[in-house]
Amino acid sequence: MERPAWAPRSIDISVPSVSRIYDFYLGGSHNFEVDREAARRAMEFMPGLPKIMQANRAFMRRAVRFAAAEGITQFLDIGSGIPTFGTVHEVARAARPGARVVYVDHDPVAVAHGQAVLEGDPETAVVAADLRKPQEILDGPEVRGLLDLDRPVALLLVAVLHFVEDADDPVAAVRELSDALAPGSMLVLTHASYEGIPLPPEQAGRVVDVYKDIRNPLIMRSREEIARFFEGYEMVEPGLVPMPDWRPDTAPEDEDPFAYSGFAGVGRAA
Ligand SMILES: C[S@@+](CC[C@H](N)C(=O)[O-])C[C@H]1O[C@@H](n2cnc3c(N)ncnc32)[C@H](O)[C@@H]1O
Repeated sequence: MERPAWAPRSIDISVPSVSRIYDFYLGGSHNFEVDREAARRAMEFMPGLPKIMQANRAFMRRAVRFAAAEGITQFLDIGSGIPTFGTVHEVARAARPGARVVYVDHDPVAVAHGQAVLEGDPETAVVAADLRKPQEILDGPEVRGLLDLDRPVALLLVAVLHFVEDADDPVAAVRELSDALAPGSMLVLTHASYEGIPLPPEQAGRVVDVYKDIRNPLIMRSREEIARFFEGYEMVEPGLVPMPDWRPDTAPEDEDPFAYSGFAGVGRAA
């Protein structure tokens, strides 16, 4: 198989990756046949998967716009993925020129492509690091150099916590990150859940099996479990809700039923 320039030598391109599967769902071109094959298998059970991803991106853009309108100029986007249309720095800068963004992902393609796209941009950085090791992210030269942690930061954990298993204590990881942030900081989060999926749970469970097969377990959590990530934050209205219901731009009747799968929310640190 030919290796394109955006695929670092270190990666095994015969193994599917979460970030490249997601890129495929969103209509991107940074994916291989193994990724497309896994995505198509998941879509056999849940044909609305791309709609969920689109609703997720649309929420993220609304939440970044909201944070910027509230005066936030610094963003830490962990599990940022392969750059696609409407990235955090584009949305943030439209409202706040000079906004600073640190992107973090543990996927080598996401990091390499992000670094290539953002080369020479002094107000952004793309870091290879793992959400399960929050202190390494906080102590890294990019966060230290680009973000002033004494001022509010929007911490984005969008569609990433459902890839962190309970054994790795994602609640503690979020708390560790949150503890380092100044009052007025925001947590922007989406998370997969069986709640809201317009399918019987057994059928949705087959999608979870596909991710298990590719050794990137997808952990569905209940609304109550997802709410725990916001410990110490005050929820911004309308709270933890299905993605299209969070401060929508469009009329709800325009939404696909699959867009209501999972939850989204924004919290403000007191
Ligand atoms: C579904 S994509 C979401 C991308 C983006 N946040 C969005 O919502 O459009 C999930 C991303 O999280 C990354 N990821 C998964 N587990 C991670 C971890 N433990 N640390 C850092 N990144 C992780 C994956 O590599 C992938 O790029």
